Amino acid sequence: MFWNRKKVSDAGGIPTSADPQTLRAEVEQIKWWHPIDLGGGLITPGIDVTPARLAEIRMPEDLSGLTVLDIGAWDGFFSFEAERRGARRVLATDSFCWDGGGWGTKKGFELARRALGSRVEDKWIEVLNLSPDTAGVFDVVLFLGILYHMKHPLLALERVASVTKGQLIMQTQVDMLAVNRPAMAFYPGNELGGDPTNWCGPNPAAVRAMLETVGFRKVEILSKSFPDEVPLETLNTIRPNHITLHAWK
Ligand SMILES: C[S@@+](CC[C@H](N)C(=O)[O-])C[C@H]1O[C@@H](n2cnc3c(N)ncnc32)[C@H](O)[C@@H]1O
Repeated sequence: MFWNRKKVSDAGGIPTSADPQTLRAEVEQIKWWHPIDLGGGLITPGIDVTPARLAEIRMPEDLSGLTVLDIGAWDGFFSFEAERRGARRVLATDSFCWDGGGWGTKKGFELARRALGSRVEDKWIEVLNLSPDTAGVFDVVLFLGILYHMKHPLLALERVASVTKGQLIMQTQVDMLAVNRPAMAFYPGNELGGDPTNWCGPNPAAVRAMLETVGFRKVEILSKSFPDEVPLETLNTIRPNHITLHAWK
């Protein structure tokens, strides 16, 4: 499905003006996180396994009439996908990468939006500053690959809950998997993946408990990248593992 995506401009968006060669040259100038199909056989060379993650998050096939907020959108793959699935309004927000704080920038998002003729809106906003006043309130909120970057995870989820009126779709790194009670690893340095912007690794019980604490009434873990029984000896090792969940207000 990803590989056959329909250009948004085909559905009445703003058509792109760049000719294919110019567009390809522009794409090559940018460091991409997301592989985004811009049409005409041109897919941005993103390093993330986004198509596999799209399958994992089970974004509703039909978002007709709904509003969607994509928090930490970066190049915007999931925002454009939500628009392609019929969302009435999509707002992409980010801060760190759009500032060039890491190795990425906002150039990919802007180029993809133009090339796709997309109407996705954008706003520079820190997760901890999200509120109904600063961002609005949305039917569907995407919070993908962000929680473990948060120094204040419970506060971050409180902010996320404040802008969600329907469904939250979330994916996050997890740790402390041998513990059944809510528990969270803290990464003061670059313990997780050598990346100092990673701060916390909650276990699935902690993610569930935090979501319930901030007001989500139903939390469903869709998938886990690890077996049900994790041996206790693994507590001192950090391995990249993630879960995908849906939660409802
Ligand atoms: C691993 S990427 C995930 C990008 C995208 N959501 C995805 O799932 O592919 C983490 C994103 O979170 C953003 N981010 C990190 N800290 C943030 C903060 N405090 N406020 C807003 N965005 C933040 C980064 O800029 C980056 O775009």
